[in-house]
Amino acid sequence: MRVMQRIALLVFGLCVSLSVRADEGMWLPSLIGEGRIGDMRAKGLRLTAQDLYSVNRACLKDAIVRFGGGCTGELISDQGLLITNHHCGYGQIQQHSSVEHDYLTHGFAAMSRGEELPNPGLAVSFLVEMQDVTDQMLKGISNKMDDVKRAKIMDRNKKAILERAVDGGRYRASVEALYYGNQYFLFVYEVFEDVRLVFAPPSAVGKFGGDTDNWMWPRHTGDFSLFRVYAGPDNKPAPYSTDNVPYVPKKSFTISLKGIRQGDFTFVYGFPGRTYRYLHSEAVRYIQEKSDPHKVKLRTLRLDIMNRAQAADPAVRIQYAAKNASVSNAWKKWQGEMKGLRRLGTVAEKQAFEREFEAWAADKPEYAGVTERLSALYDSLEPYAFAIDYHNEAAMAIEVLKFAGQFAAVQEWTPETIDRLRQAAARFYKDYVPAIDRETARVLGAEYRRQAPERFRVAGVDMDAVFDSTLFVDSARVRRLLELEDPQAIGRMVAEDPAVKAYRAFQDVYQLKIAPVHVELNRQIEREYRTYMRGMMEMRQGEHEFYPDANSTLRIAYGKVDGYRPVDAVRYEPVSTLEGVMQKDDPEVYDYDVPERLRRIYETKDYGRWAVNGTVPVAFIATNHTTGGNSGSPVLNADGQLIGVNFDRCWEGTMSDLEYDPEVCRNIALDIRYALFLIDRVGGAGYLLDEMKFAE
Ligand code: ARG
Ligand code: GLU
Repeated sequence: MRVMQRIALLVFGLCVSLSVRADEGMWLPSLIGEGRIGDMRAKGLRLTAQDLYSVNRACLKDAIVRFGGGCTGELISDQGLLITNHHCGYGQIQQHSSVEHDYLTHGFAAMSRGEELPNPGLAVSFLVEMQDVTDQMLKGISNKMDDVKRAKIMDRNKKAILERAVDGGRYRASVEALYYGNQYFLFVYEVFEDVRLVFAPPSAVGKFGGDTDNWMWPRHTGDFSLFRVYAGPDNKPAPYSTDNVPYVPKKSFTISLKGIRQGDFTFVYGFPGRTYRYLHSEAVRYIQEKSDPHKVKLRTLRLDIMNRAQAADPAVRIQYAAKNASVSNAWKKWQGEMKGLRRLGTVAEKQAFEREFEAWAADKPEYAGVTERLSALYDSLEPYAFAIDYHNEAAMAIEVLKFAGQFAAVQEWTPETIDRLRQAAARFYKDYVPAIDRETARVLGAEYRRQAPERFRVAGVDMDAVFDSTLFVDSARVRRLLELEDPQAIGRMVAEDPAVKAYRAFQDVYQLKIAPVHVELNRQIEREYRTYMRGMMEMRQGEHEFYPDANSTLRIAYGKVDGYRPVDAVRYEPVSTLEGVMQKDDPEVYDYDVPERLRRIYETKDYGRWAVNGTVPVAFIATNHTTGGNSGSPVLNADGQLIGVNFDRCWEGTMSDLEYDPEVCRNIALDIRYALFLIDRVGGAGYLLDEMKFAE
């Protein structure tokens, strides 16, 4: 009996290891009507599949954008007003900031359209449509074809698809592989390039808790900012111009003021970046045991240096704010990920699944042995992957090398190139402190010599000597260099510069010794995954639905508002309030120094229409499966109304890129009512609310 029970448990365990767990998944909006919608409605959704996604009529997808390179944003008025995270607009807010106009510290509010600040380089993309193009992509492909031939034909097919899709330049388009190339989808976007900053709370609100609270619950960060999308007078995309007018979107979100309760159905609609759900056990083992720990160590060293320098000088604090935030963000996430993978025993679980798979595949020559081949390939890959980790996280973490690299890459010194580099230099030196970089180079250099695989190590570069003599640590010298009359002379001086030489030495090793093998092994790995993925889907056919790994395309995740137990004897509630902000208030600590104005409002409890049970709601957590890129995504209620803005995940659940655990995986959202309260009462920009629609 006991034995039977154990076997039953074991079998159950194996099945679970691959089947999608409650609330796991990032689903393709255009396919939601084929099955998922039933589950969503059973769990509380009151909309139809066409309300979520349709090409023929306005629907929720028309109110959502990919914001800049790696975030999501959503339209909240029919005059182009857009909300995203503070940390998504951070680069822009910082760009507009100086010690005199310190929008990072004090926040920013445009009091009229004329005061909204343009952001060259920032664009937002609306998805026009998505389409399964697998048949077109695979036209002319046969199973017996070798990879090179296959790739060539597919490339040609892809070009033809894109050519048609962009409609003479009106749209941008891409074809993306799903399920490791077992399916292909076309995505067509309309891209707007005139996007202006409208509102940002002070960092003491928008980044409240800083990197201490980052990735954590309970959270009290007012992580949002507002932008406005502008279009030409014809409402079509147009480059920045004072003649442009606010864009009228096909759809904008109604904001719910009804509040959030434990158990409420919610969904997140946005652009998740990358997940690795179907990875082989060996790949997970590498991440957990080697890659993550080493990268964390290297970043700890960098952060120590930055933090010290920033604490000592307010100008440096601003200059290194965005760099510090981005270095520390992944640094912290990787630590949570390692811990979560270890706790779940993902590696052992995957190994067990791989054995089960091979048993199933034993009489199927198409699939048999694929997991063993992957295992061998990962074995060969590991030293190369490790070398790349050190290349990226040690060598290329030296700012002056990366910057000199832009000069090293120049083929021809045309006036346009020189002008582009002048602009790059202005941006670089605005936020560059050579002493920080030099110290970083010294510390990372020592670690690199200790750890980086010997046969891929660059020898003979003395970074101290580089810093002594390169002209790239001196903005004035670089300016003079770019003013020289003779472009050939610029080229010669660049070629002779020690930082350029050092950069080339690292790149040479990378390009000659590491990349070729790494690329070739990855090509083989990709091919095996195509088989493995198809096999997994066949093996589990009818048992459950697979979702394709995230790849920065539009997805829907759904779940419910819910707390969790982070550790033994502790239960987290799902909703945080202004009380928690004030409990953390500490004028002595930069990240917890609540703005005076908010403090005063708290003292008088003068919350006006934003009061809920005598306080103001701030953030909440839910079981939606999200990842990096989902920042700024709309968090919606059963009626598709905006209740929050996604901005993070809980630390205990950051392994959800590889394995989702319904017990602890939670997304963190700003309660939209906190944003409204801040705009209205703290920012004094209540007029912005006039263009929004509310559901009371
Ligand atoms: N963890 C969030 C994300 O992955 C927020 C990052 C920005 N905040 C910060 N303190 N670094 O993007
Ligand atoms: N903050 C993340 C982002 O910028 C979201 C957090 C996550 O990785 O889930 O997309």
